[in-house]
Amino acid sequence: MESYRIAVIPGDGVGAEISEEAVRILNTAADIHGFEVTTESFDWSCDRYLELGEMMPADALETLGGFDAIFLGCIGDAAKVADHVSLEMLLKIRKGFDQYVNLRPIRLYPGVATPISTATPETVDILVVRENTEGEYSHNGGFFKRGTPDAFALQTGIFTWKGCERAIRYGFEAARSRAKLGNGEKVGRVTNCTKSNALNYSMVFWDETYDYVAKDYPDIETDMALVDALTMWFVKNPDWFDVVVASNLFGDIITDLGAMLQGGMGFAAGGNVNPEKSYPSMFEPIHGSAPKYTGKRIVNPIASIEAVRMMLEHLDQAQAGAQVQRAIASTLAAGNVRTRDMGGNNTTDEVGAAVEQAMRAGA
Ligand code: IPM
Ligand code: MN
Repeated sequence: MESYRIAVIPGDGVGAEISEEAVRILNTAADIHGFEVTTESFDWSCDRYLELGEMMPADALETLGGFDAIFLGCIGDAAKVADHVSLEMLLKIRKGFDQYVNLRPIRLYPGVATPISTATPETVDILVVRENTEGEYSHNGGFFKRGTPDAFALQTGIFTWKGCERAIRYGFEAARSRAKLGNGEKVGRVTNCTKSNALNYSMVFWDETYDYVAKDYPDIETDMALVDALTMWFVKNPDWFDVVVASNLFGDIITDLGAMLQGGMGFAAGGNVNPEKSYPSMFEPIHGSAPKYTGKRIVNPIASIEAVRMMLEHLDQAQAGAQVQRAIASTLAAGNVRTRDMGGNNTTDEVGAAVEQAMRAGA
């Protein structure tokens, strides 16, 4: 029997309650699909920082390295610890485990309302492949002449050929396997999200790697959009997009907009993936920790359940992943249980239980 060890980091705010639903679905999938899961939870959080002066222990990566995958709830509580301090933990894991692809699927399930009127289940099916270990998030720079009238800050991006290429190549491979268009010679499209009209080194370099990689994929349609224009096109013509490749910061920004195409932050999940599986990959809802809702059991667990679906696919439990997806779809289409963001007043665990029930009923 296949057996997986999953590390769970609930984090801050509503992290604990959504992690419970993620673990519920993980266990249900194991039950139904005949594999074994053991989870271990780590209390790495802002509360830990207040107590011990660190978000996670010094040997955190060593500990996590022994797991097959990581589920991360949500990190950050600015009332306790400054965000750029607490969230460094997330970036340390992404970089330390060379999770160089941040996969962010954007799909709108039938039955889910979105504030964007062009978005329908037919028009929204985008995969954002975000570079996840370098670029604008390179953590290089400094404060100078602080406290003087000449104070300045310097933040340097690092774009390596290897880093750009592998993320972009992943996007082309993903487009090939999605083969979404499939109705002509071209079977997929990869949009290059860039800003090379203004960022004359980093993004020109990024474009060069894109062009270099694209040559290996004559079957995939190429396309480019400046990031500012892309936000407009995401709203105006979401159906145009198939796979989008983006640098770390741009990928971050456009996927919050993507979440709105999906019906809100309560639906959007991401996978921090090390495709070679040299290190564990980490799956998370992309929403924040909403400290004011802590313990109220009102937040939507679907994003976390989606993260579990992605984790199952990554662990080669494709059938289990597909079933989680069907169970989410049928639960949302039926619309009997809805958290507040969906216009209902069911609790987080009631929605999780409904997805579990749909799985057990053979979704
Ligand atoms: C995300 C988040 C993080 C990011 C923050 C919390 C550092 O916004 O995962 O999208 O910018 O990557
Ligand atoms: Mn973000």
